[in-house]
Amino acid sequence: MNEPKEAGMQKPDLTVEDVLRMLVANERAASHVLNMVPSENAMSGLAKLPMLTDAYHRYFFNEQGNPDRWNFRGGQNLWELETSLTVPLLAQLGKAGHVSVRPLSGLSAMALVLASLGGSPGSTVMTISPENGGHYATGLIAERMGLGVDCLSGPDPHCLDLEHAAQLLAEKRPSLVYVDQSHCLFPVDIPSLVRTVRTASPETLVHVDASHWFGLVLGGVYANPLDCGADSFGGSTHKTFPGPQKAVFLTRSPKVAERVEQTQDYLISSHHFATTISLGMALLEFRDFGGEQYARAVADNTRRFGRLLVERGIPVVAADRGCSAGHQLWLDTAAEGIAAKVASHRLFQAGIRVNFMTGLPGFVEAGVRVGLNEPTYRGITVDDLPELADIFADAVRDTGHPSALSARVARLRGRPGYGFTFEPDSPVLSDAASLYTEAVTAGHDNSDNPGLPGWPDIRSGREQVSRS
Ligand SMILES: Cc1ncc(COP(=O)(O)O)c(C=O)c1O
Repeated sequence: MNEPKEAGMQKPDLTVEDVLRMLVANERAASHVLNMVPSENAMSGLAKLPMLTDAYHRYFFNEQGNPDRWNFRGGQNLWELETSLTVPLLAQLGKAGHVSVRPLSGLSAMALVLASLGGSPGSTVMTISPENGGHYATGLIAERMGLGVDCLSGPDPHCLDLEHAAQLLAEKRPSLVYVDQSHCLFPVDIPSLVRTVRTASPETLVHVDASHWFGLVLGGVYANPLDCGADSFGGSTHKTFPGPQKAVFLTRSPKVAERVEQTQDYLISSHHFATTISLGMALLEFRDFGGEQYARAVADNTRRFGRLLVERGIPVVAADRGCSAGHQLWLDTAAEGIAAKVASHRLFQAGIRVNFMTGLPGFVEAGVRVGLNEPTYRGITVDDLPELADIFADAVRDTGHPSALSARVARLRGRPGYGFTFEPDSPVLSDAASLYTEAVTAGHDNSDNPGLPGWPDIRSGREQVSRS
């Protein structure tokens, strides 16, 4: 039997060329498949562009633009892209007076909120129980911070028992109710929950972690948690929101904002300046190029796709309730004798990526988790859904040939997507193309910057002369 080798003992035998070839091959393959993982999405090439530029390497902390505080100079030419683009756009779309763009991901935002609003060690926070879709990490992070944790639960995976919540709140008086619905087909009724909290424990803050719902909130499919009375909300910007892997925090309360600002200064250092600019670009696209339409289409496509799968005999959870009010569907293929892992593998071979996972509320075995957010962003419309459902059902049951199915998926993937709709001959696009070329080749041009000795000059294809 081969013993697994320690990483330090392995010979790293991949070359730079190998890595590039693998990336190119993956990019080509990815451009023909449909990614239906609910916690992922795509974004435009233009929104990705900042991450290829010099800004990617820079720290930026001087949000006031104070001339005495340019300790790190690299952000000095672009800082207003964060303060005058990303921040105000997020505040506008999220209807909040105060926002933070510091969190690096949903979990980083979670840690920031628990540390800022969860109270001192020994305080109690309340979260949603994992059986009702609460995130597995919330309790673990809170306990690691010395906080006590209680869970809100309900009679079934899709709703909370608010009478029980009122009793628990009155008894425990938590500093914070952290609404962390993650595995969710139907959103928690935030207005009723907030009313319950205000009555039973008026000092308790309510934060809604809308990581999975964020694009649907900004697009108006779900009510903004702040309009529903929550003190703050936030979450990942790369699930239903088609943006970079990052997260945000929003509130209308200056006091709440101040507590978060104080904590973020020591909990998060670099907040990835270029990614923050990318987020600004993605928000701009969302506002000006059909974000609301996209969000409505996600919810519509999800419900319809659920129905189409049911019609094809695929066991979709909560079919009696319309399958989903958001972007995800759960399939209990194991109930039909097809293990979730097998179903997901067959779908993968047909060019469709989905999750198989344990822990979905109400499941005994692993289930299949499917999202319509990225396909919708890629331009899949209701007219495409019957074809997608046929392919999907054939793949799950192994009744079609994978290569024929994946060719049909590739045709669907060829639809024009949402996002920037500049005319292809717009001058701004050729400027962006030049910037891209410059960014990719920076450091490889012999005349300006020799890069590392022996590296190929990508533009000329020549080997660089060693300077050593
Ligand atoms: C409610 C909630 N919080 C946090 C996270 C973690 O987000 P990320 O993967 O961006 O760290 C998730 C991910 O699903 C989530 O649903």
